[in-house]
Amino acid sequence: MSRKFFVGGNWKLNGDKKSLGELMDTMNAAKVDPNVEVVCGAPSIYLDFVRSKLDAKFGVAAQNCYKVAKGAFTGEISPVMIKDCGVNWVILGHSERRHVFGESDELIGQKTAHALESGLSTKVIADNVKDWSKVVLAYEPVWAIGTGKTASPQQAQEVHDKLRGWLKANVSEAVASSVRIIYGGSVTGATCKELASQKDVDGFLVGGASLKPEIIEIINAKL
Ligand code: G3P
Repeated sequence: MSRKFFVGGNWKLNGDKKSLGELMDTMNAAKVDPNVEVVCGAPSIYLDFVRSKLDAKFGVAAQNCYKVAKGAFTGEISPVMIKDCGVNWVILGHSERRHVFGESDELIGQKTAHALESGLSTKVIADNVKDWSKVVLAYEPVWAIGTGKTASPQQAQEVHDKLRGWLKANVSEAVASSVRIIYGGSVTGATCKELASQKDVDGFLVGGASLKPEIIEIINAKL
C-alpha cells in the first residue's frame, strides 16, 4: 500500500508572531511537492494566528492537549478547542512531554483516545488507539533530538521495519502496511534525502530545521 509522505514541523517553544509570520510567508510562497502532507506544530497561543496565516494546503497541529473537553484544568487546552481554531492535528507523547513534564504512558494513552474520539488526528506513540487511520507514528531516538546527530538511514530503516513488524503482530497487517512511520531527530536539508529513500521511512518530524527556510528542502526530499 502506498503511504503519503508526511513532514511535520515541530516548532516547540520557539518563535514569535514576527519570526513565525516570516517563516509562513516563506512556506506559503515556496514550491512544494504536492504529494507530501505537511503539518506545522505551533505553540498553543499561536494556533489561531498560524491557522489564519498559513496556506490551507499545509496542516496545523497543536503540540499537546488534555484528555477531557473542558473543566477545572488550569493551563490546559482540549481537542474541541483545537478544532475550534480550525486545527486538525495534535502531537501527543513527545519525549519532551515525558521527560520534562513527567507524562506517563497511561496519561498519553488517555489523551490519545480522547483526541481521536474528538476527531483530531495524532502524531503519537501510544496504546489506546482504535482508529489507526488518523495516526502518524513518530520514531525519535532521544540521542538524536536537537544534538545534530542524525540516525543513519540504515538505523532508521531498521527501527521503522521493527515498528511495522510490531504493528503487524499486535494490531493488524492492514494497519502495519498503511500507517505512516516518520523519523525525527536532527533532520536537515543535508540528511533528509537519503533517509527519505528508505522504504519504511514515510516522512519526518522536524524540530530545529522546521523554523528555517530549510524546511522546504525537507518537504521536497522525495523530488
Ligand atoms: O519533534 C521533533 C524533534 O524532537 C526533533 O528535533 O531539533 O532534533 O529536529 P530536532
